[in-house]
Amino acid sequence: MGLVRTLIDRDREYVESALQQKLRALYDGDLHFRRSSTARPFVIANFVSTLDGVVSFEMKGLSGGSTISGSNPADRFIMGLLRASADAIVVGAGTLRDVSAKSLWTPGYAYPDAKHLYKEYRVNAQHKPEYPLLVIVSGSGRLELKRTIFRTPDIPAVIITTSTGRDELTRRGAAKLGSVEVHALKSSGGSIAPRAILQLLQSQFGVKTLLHEGGPTLFGQFLAAGVVDEFFLTLSPQIAGRNGDATRPAVVQGVSFVPGSAPWFEMVSLKEKAAYLYLRYRRRRGQGT
Ligand SMILES: NC(=O)c1ccc[n+]([C@@H]2O[C@H](COP(=O)([O-])OP(=O)(O)OC[C@H]3O[C@@H](n4cnc5c(N)ncnc54)[C@H](OP(=O)(O)O)[C@@H]3O)[C@@H](O)[C@H]2O)c1
Repeated sequence: MGLVRTLIDRDREYVESALQQKLRALYDGDLHFRRSSTARPFVIANFVSTLDGVVSFEMKGLSGGSTISGSNPADRFIMGLLRASADAIVVGAGTLRDVSAKSLWTPGYAYPDAKHLYKEYRVNAQHKPEYPLLVIVSGSGRLELKRTIFRTPDIPAVIITTSTGRDELTRRGAAKLGSVEVHALKSSGGSIAPRAILQLLQSQFGVKTLLHEGGPTLFGQFLAAGVVDEFFLTLSPQIAGRNGDATRPAVVQGVSFVPGSAPWFEMVSLKEKAAYLYLRYRRRRGQGT
């Protein structure tokens, strides 16, 4: 039986199945992504938010996405499926700092029950390496390198940072970590341009499909640069609220759009399960490049 039920599916341009039968059954449908252009990787993003648009309670030990989703199995399954579909996953340093030191950005870590199905889909059907490349973006380089993700030789990681960040990471011993590469890129006030990140990932790591897992600061910059092609959003049926002394981030922080330049999306699919909605949007044609 499916983990979700499909209410709308407008992704009808493909004849052949992308997902194997068991994954198709769990997702109640297929999942295709458009090819990347020659200019940059295809970028998909994935978030979970409350009904009032909050993505983090910003409370110690309770600020991750699983508190927002109530550790919803279908949300975790879709997260794993998107990871299994991507060549690389990008996260900002704020998101990394907020998760347990043991966290891994692998499909099976998101949803262990489908670990073997993800592997079969990823390795046998898509001919990708077992694990996607993890990409961490940090201006400061102030990252805790004792984390499991930096000490698991099978899972490659790259830290994209500034020259100041690279010095900080060197000081912290990054050069001794076998599976971690550090790349310094030009920045403006500590901020690296999303297009420069994409260009590096495409040219040096052969990334064609990139999954953006946030957080809101990094995601806002990708949106503002016009490089987000698809947006998956789980709408979790709880309300977090806000008051003056707590900044509870929405999907985008640090960037505000105005009517006329705000990005618009069209719906690709809508799924549901037990009061949760699983939305998939694609950037409207003519917006971004
Ligand atoms: N509900 C969800 O789906 C979801 C998803 C993701 C995250 N979150 C939550 O969001 C919160 C974190 O929010 P956040 O906005 O701080 O996260 P973030 O975007 O992951 O992290 C911000 C940090 O990333 C680095 N960064 C971002 N853009 C950069 C750029 N262009 N160039 C260089 N460095 C850049 C900077 O690191 P340095 O400080 O090292 O310079 C910056 O301080 C957490 O509570 C997390 O759990 C929720």
